[in-house]
Amino acid sequence: MTDLVELAKRRGFFFQSSEAYGGVSGFYTYGPQGASLKERVEETWRERFALAEGHMQIDAPTVMPEPVFEASGHLDGFDDMLVECAECGESHRADHLIEGATDIEEAESLPTDEVASLLDAHDIDCPSCGAPLAGQPVDEFNLMFETNIGPGTSQTGYLRPETAQGIFVEFPRLKEYARGQLPFGVTQVGKSYRNEISPRNALVRTREFTQAELELFVDPDGDEPDVSSVADVEVTLYPAENQPEGDYVETTVGEAVAEGVVDPWVAYYLGVATEWYETIGVDFERFRYRQHQPGERAHYATDCWDAEADVSAPDEAPEWIEIAGYAYRGDYDLSKHGEHGTENFTVFTQYDEPKTVERASVDPDMSYLGPEFGGAAAEIADALAALAERDRAAFEGDEVTVDVDGESYTVPTEKTGFEFAEETEAGRHVTPHVVEPSIGIDRTVYTVLAHAHEEDEVDEGERTVLRLDPSVAPTDVAVFPLMDKDGMGERAHEIATTLRGEGLDVTYDDSGNIGRRYRRQDEVGTPFCVTVDYESVDEEPETVTLRERDSTDQVRVPSADLASVLADLRAGETTFDDL
Ligand code: GAP
Repeated sequence: MTDLVELAKRRGFFFQSSEAYGGVSGFYTYGPQGASLKERVEETWRERFALAEGHMQIDAPTVMPEPVFEASGHLDGFDDMLVECAECGESHRADHLIEGATDIEEAESLPTDEVASLLDAHDIDCPSCGAPLAGQPVDEFNLMFETNIGPGTSQTGYLRPETAQGIFVEFPRLKEYARGQLPFGVTQVGKSYRNEISPRNALVRTREFTQAELELFVDPDGDEPDVSSVADVEVTLYPAENQPEGDYVETTVGEAVAEGVVDPWVAYYLGVATEWYETIGVDFERFRYRQHQPGERAHYATDCWDAEADVSAPDEAPEWIEIAGYAYRGDYDLSKHGEHGTENFTVFTQYDEPKTVERASVDPDMSYLGPEFGGAAAEIADALAALAERDRAAFEGDEVTVDVDGESYTVPTEKTGFEFAEETEAGRHVTPHVVEPSIGIDRTVYTVLAHAHEEDEVDEGERTVLRLDPSVAPTDVAVFPLMDKDGMGERAHEIATTLRGEGLDVTYDDSGNIGRRYRRQDEVGTPFCVTVDYESVDEEPETVTLRERDSTDQVRVPSADLASVLADLRAGETTFDDL
C-alpha cells in the first residue's frame, strides 16, 4: 500500500486534500490520471449496469432533510463503535481494534458492552499514544454529517450516507416514469458522506466517496429473474456458513441459483458484476463474494454478499477489502417512506384476468360502541376491521373479543355490522422489494490499481508498471518525438492531434531520453506509446514505432493506419503479436 500510495501521489492518481492547510483525514483529491481512471470506471459501470440492463439514471441532491433519515433508519441505526483515548483524546473504531488484537473477524456485529469487555480482556492500547484503553466507554457514534438548511437552525439536513435514499424518496415519481411496471431499476452515481471515526488506507475508508448504486424494484410474489444470460459466469463464493472453516465454493451463477446458495436476483447481479469486474481488470485470483453473517447486516438488509478484493502486495498476507455490497433490502425502504412520507410508495399491479375474491368487512354500530366503551370505541372499531380481514371465523359466534392496548373488549356480533361479500379485483397494491448492487467506486479504483501494480525486469532494468486494462487506463496512447528537432517534433504534434480527433486520450511528451519517457508512461499504465523518429520523417510511406506497455515489444506501423490499429488493439480485435 505504501508503494502504491506513493506512486499515486507522484504520478497524479490521488493524494490527500488541502495539504497546504495541513490536510484533513478522510478526504482525497484525484489528480489528472486518477480523475480520468475514475471517470472511465464509472463510465464502464454505467454501460453495464444502466444502459445494457435498460435501467433509468437519476442525479439527486446530496443534502436531504432530517425526516428522510428518520424514516430510513439512519438517524437511529447508522452507528459505529467509538472509543476515545483518555490520554491523547484520539478516537478509534473499537470493533477494528478488537479485530486487530483477536481472531474475531466481524466485531461490528457484537454488542457494545461485549466490545468494551474485550478491550479490557485483551489489554488493548491506544494505537496513537500507547495508553491503555481498558475501562474506557464504548459509544455508538452516528456517521452522518449534520448541517443546517438555510440561515439559522430551523431545518436540519444531513449529507446523504448512501446515494440510495435519493432514489427511494423519489419512488412515487419514478414509478410513473416506469409506467407502474415492475420490475424496473434506477441507477445513480454520486457522492456519499460518512463521518468515519478513523479514516484509513487512502481511498479505502474516506469521509467523502463515490457510490454507483442500482435500486431494482421487484414484485416479491411475481417477478423472477432470467439468469440464463449470466448462468455460466464463474464465481468464487464464501457463504456465511463456510466462513468458520474458510471454505470457498467455486461455482457458476446458474449452479448457485439451482442449489439455493444465493437468492436468484442477487445471483443475477453477481453475474453481471463479475463480467464488469473482468472488463476493468480485477484479478479473480484475488477476489471473492462473501456473504454477510446475520449480525453483520445493515439495518435494512435481509441478505447481502460483499464483493471483496485482496489488495495486498505479492508475497504479503492477504488484505481483503469490501468493494461492493449486493443486498436484498426487501420492502424495508419503501414501507418506511410510505409510513413517514405523504405520498404513495406502492405500485398497483394488474392481474392477467380480474379475480373474484371474498372480502370480509365490518360497519360497527357506534351508537352502541360509544356509550359502552367511551374513548376506546374508535380503536375497538379499527381492531374489529383488522380482525375481520385476518380471521373471519372469529365472527361466527354471538360475541367477538378484540384486544386494544392490552385490554380485552367483547362486542355482540350483531353490533359489529360484519359482512361477507364477493368482490371482483383487477389487481393489487404491492410494496416492491428492492435488490441493490451498491458499488464503492473509490475502492474499485483502488483495487484496479493494486491489481495492476507490478515491479518487473525489462531490457533497461527494473521498472514499475501499471498493467491497466485499456478500457480504463487514464491515457490511451502517448506520442513522443525521438528528439525535438529535424521536423520530428512538428510531426509528432500532428499525429497527436489526429489521434485526439479520433476520440483518444493522448499525452505528448518530449522531455528526457526516450527510455525515461517509456518508464513514465509504464508507471501511469498507458498501454501504447508512439515514437516519431528519423525514419518517420525521412521515408515514404511514413511509419512510426508503436510500443506495447506489457511486453515492451515494438513494431513499425504506417502512420496512416495508426488510429485504426490502436482502435483494434484497444477493442481486443488485434493482439500485438498479430502486428
Ligand atoms: N446503499 C448501500 C450501501 O451504502 P455500504 O456497504 O454501506 O452499502 C457500499 O456501501 C459501498 O460503498 C461499500 O462496499 C464500499 O465500497 C463503499 N464505501 C462505504 N463506505 C465507504 C468509505 N468510508 N470510504 C470509501 N468507500 C466506502
